[in-house]
Amino acid sequence: MKKILLPALLVTAAILLCAPFFMTGPPDEPAGDYGNKIVLGFAQLGAESEWRSASSESVKRAAEKYGVELMFENAQQKQENQIKAIRSFIAHRVDVIAFAPVVETDWDNVLLEARAERIPVILVDRKIQTEFSGLYVSFLGSDFTEEGVKAGRWLARKFGETGRDVNIVELRGTDGASPTRGRSEGFRDAISSDVRFRIVCSESGDFMRSKGRETMERILDEYFAPSEGRRIDVLFAHNDDMALGAVEAMEERGIAPGRDIVIISVDAQRSALEALEEGKLNCVVECSPYVGERLMEIVVSLVSGDEIPPAIFSEETMFTEDDPPESLPERPY
Ligand code: AHR
Repeated sequence: MKKILLPALLVTAAILLCAPFFMTGPPDEPAGDYGNKIVLGFAQLGAESEWRSASSESVKRAAEKYGVELMFENAQQKQENQIKAIRSFIAHRVDVIAFAPVVETDWDNVLLEARAERIPVILVDRKIQTEFSGLYVSFLGSDFTEEGVKAGRWLARKFGETGRDVNIVELRGTDGASPTRGRSEGFRDAISSDVRFRIVCSESGDFMRSKGRETMERILDEYFAPSEGRRIDVLFAHNDDMALGAVEAMEERGIAPGRDIVIISVDAQRSALEALEEGKLNCVVECSPYVGERLMEIVVSLVSGDEIPPAIFSEETMFTEDDPPESLPERPY
């Protein structure tokens, strides 16, 4: 009996001693301590748009790929829910907190709490304004002002030749959110030198297709009656979902989107690129939701003690009615 027991004990002891090495990720995977998983708390702001769903998917898929333990909360577009989620991440003593802030202000208290517990914070997608500095390590996302500038510059080129006033309607995103401010400011900046461009109406559709449609219905009733001299020449929608909702409102009234009213939108999701191909949208500025992998790289680097740049912007382009359909990209969302 003793003869069998001793070798068995030695093998068991050897396995236990080597266990941490066996638990490390396979060599072709990115670096990371899979034996002692990094825990990331991610507070997503909601599920208001197709873009947002693609962004959540990107984070979840990347966490799996990088072997990061993800605590994911959907805040249903409420700041108080995001703050609650961040507090629960602090209570769980996660390694890193990331969140996509629904609005820009009033984050100082909860971020001071995270700092007191030495938990680093990364902003994903949207920016914030704080009274204290150093409350987050890095921002990862898009340059929203630049997106607005691209939209405005395209418009200026499109109407470059016409002599008359250009009446513009703006469908804003969520009020108080950084993409809404950035896109509004960039757009206004790009058209400001030409007095023909007049923003006759600007309303929020909260980045949602249903609200984009409802808001556009009201706007059309008030501002669109060409026979009485009331014209809308251009719609600038802060995202594709609102633009597509507005397209429905126009078609319901016999207005040809893309022809009777020129439409510019932001995101470049598949349905918007299809609408561009059909001539229902005229210009689509890209905003990428695919931040997941970059986020995981940052998280792994942070935990390893590496320096992280304070801002990392996605590379983005734009698509217009002049692009040949075969040049438009295939979109998974
Ligand atoms: O913050 C990014 C914006 O939020 C996207 O343009 C929009 O679709 C989303 O809801």
